[in-house]
Amino acid sequence: MDELLNRLKDFEKSALAKLNSAQTKEALEALRIEFLSRKGKLSEFSKSLSEASDELRPKIGAEVNRIKKIIQDAIKFKEDLSPKLEKKEILDYTMPVKSSFVGHKHPLLQTVDDIVSIFHGMGFEIASGPDVESNYYTFDALNTPEDHPSRDLSDTFYIKEGVCLRTHTSPVQIRTMEKQKPPVRIIAPGRCYRSDTPDASHSPVFYQCEGLYVDEGVTFADLKGTITAFARMMFGKNIKVRFRPHFFPFTEPSVEYDFSCVICRGKGCRVCKHNGWLEISGAGMVDPEVFKAVGYDSEKYTGFAWGMGVDRITMLRYRIDDIRLLYENDIRFIRQF
Ligand code: DAH
Repeated sequence: MDELLNRLKDFEKSALAKLNSAQTKEALEALRIEFLSRKGKLSEFSKSLSEASDELRPKIGAEVNRIKKIIQDAIKFKEDLSPKLEKKEILDYTMPVKSSFVGHKHPLLQTVDDIVSIFHGMGFEIASGPDVESNYYTFDALNTPEDHPSRDLSDTFYIKEGVCLRTHTSPVQIRTMEKQKPPVRIIAPGRCYRSDTPDASHSPVFYQCEGLYVDEGVTFADLKGTITAFARMMFGKNIKVRFRPHFFPFTEPSVEYDFSCVICRGKGCRVCKHNGWLEISGAGMVDPEVFKAVGYDSEKYTGFAWGMGVDRITMLRYRIDDIRLLYENDIRFIRQF
């Protein structure tokens, strides 16, 4: 009867091996029938119990029960595993992964980054100044007279006497020149504030990027070349730039500059109000009065400065038609960039 015990042992081994290599539900079910059904292998062993001696019968009975339990457990284990196994069989590794949303920079700051990297390539460094600024840096040192309309309460947010939220990034020109001697070559991106009622093209908070270049022998031609080089790098080599005479207290001569419409390429469309040009900002040669305020010798040095509407550039490159979208921070909008 020891022989029967040996056969049981062999059966246990081969049954577990077969179960182990079963890969599908069907294969598992076939093995369950083969081992555990009424006509299965274990029943056969139970039947041969009658032939066993009284002494061996309980031993063999216990052995059959133990193996039955092991096989049942193994089947259960494989069944729990099988949905995973089967999924694995049809896993297509070439399928694109389900993308999860990863945060990114706001479109305005992406534009700032691009502006910065273009001017960085031309040798400009980044400078910065505070958003809460003194009237001195915002207006006085920039040669802006006491009665200039930009100082009005209707234009400027005042914090207290002599202190305001900067209305432009131009104060950074003064702060930089106070700290260093020429040559100066800086750009200063940042937030500005004006007491405007929000509409599609006005926001009380907006972004500008200031630029300043001071050295011996700097000319208006350098200004034109720098702005034109920027326009081409930002919007493509076919962009045209034009300069129109204007007035700013801190530059003389002063200009406003326009880019040919990046939407219709100058043909005329709704965005450029059918004249083919888009107004970008102002620029000019630094006024000797400004040099005087920072102690530069205006006989020795000349320079040019310019402003740049970051919102405007962002709206043009992404075809955004309402500036308010840039400040409402609706995640459904921001996610698109
Ligand atoms: N600060 C001006 C504005 O906010 C823009 C500007 C004009 C900046 C001429 C300059 C400049 O540096 O030279 O409208």
